[in-house]
Amino acid sequence: MEGKILILGATGTFGRPVTRSLLEKGFAVRVLARLPQKARRLFGATVDVVPGDAGNEADLRRAMRGCWAVHISLPYRLDPVVMERVVGLGRETGLRRITYVSATNAHETTRRFEMSAAKLRAEARLRSSGFACTIFCPTWAMETLPRFVRGGWGLAIGSLKSTPIHFVAGEDFGRMVAASYEDDRALGKRLFIHGPEAVPLPEALIRFVRACYPDLHILRLLPWQVRLIAALTGRQELAEVARLIAYFDEVGELGDPSEANALLGGPTVTLQQWIEGRKARVLDTRHER
Ligand SMILES: NC(=O)c1ccc[n+]([C@@H]2O[C@H](COP(=O)([O-])OP(=O)(O)OC[C@H]3O[C@@H](n4cnc5c(N)ncnc54)[C@H](OP(=O)(O)O)[C@@H]3O)[C@@H](O)[C@H]2O)c1
Repeated sequence: MEGKILILGATGTFGRPVTRSLLEKGFAVRVLARLPQKARRLFGATVDVVPGDAGNEADLRRAMRGCWAVHISLPYRLDPVVMERVVGLGRETGLRRITYVSATNAHETTRRFEMSAAKLRAEARLRSSGFACTIFCPTWAMETLPRFVRGGWGLAIGSLKSTPIHFVAGEDFGRMVAASYEDDRALGKRLFIHGPEAVPLPEALIRFVRACYPDLHILRLLPWQVRLIAALTGRQELAEVARLIAYFDEVGELGDPSEANALLGGPTVTLQQWIEGRKARVLDTRHER
């Protein structure tokens, strides 16, 4: 295929493994990055890095020139406006394919949640654009678990009744997105990506912290307590986490991954395997100090 695949959000949790998997398959990849050094450190010289902001139309136009595909993996608040611009600019730049990271719980019944509404708007714009596209709807990434280690504590958020979640490893997600670029049967599809086993969030967090940070105390918190701490301290990222957990606890984990698994080969990395890999990396870092 002539030209490049542009990744928006390449340095993020899901963007990194997608970028790496596409490079491994031999695709020519360009990334638009606010922090070009970070992108070069992560991907080396094999990737073409265009410095810029996805929210800036001129940056986006510059990055899209010469790209036959765009993969969008940005924070959800940017999705509707960036999708609109990618579709508009794509007509000028000769774009032929768009892949988009939505979310497993983006559904009409959950539109009252801001994230869901943003995803549904971006998806609708993409479908009406006429561009060949695939929409990926992943559940939680295993790579989000380290974000719950804060201030010397391992936070285990959630109640005993927390929804079991099929956590997916970034490497599985990256492999599946990259596989979709080699298989036109993925075009026009909305594919749910769920990991191989379901584990409630607090259990996953306790297993992760005990294995990787055995010296840390585990602080069990209910979602309402997290909301209260977030309101008292003004910490936006905690409020965001509490909202996300409430969203899953209220509606469960939506979506059926069987079509994605049949088409692209389902995720295989279990939570335990991922935790073991992470533990080895944490130990390596400690030995290097
Ligand atoms: N992680 C999950 O568990 C999960 C589950 C389901 C769906 N999703 C969806 O997947 C998408 C990606 O999530 P993620 O967890 O990978 O996000 P993330 O880790 O926060 O990464 C966001 C990426 O977007 C980049 N970015 C942010 N603002 C930008 C801007 N203005 N211009 C250019 N780049 C910008 C960030 O670059 P910097 O390096 O500069 O910050 C980073 O590369 C989101 O839409 C999310 O809703 C995620």
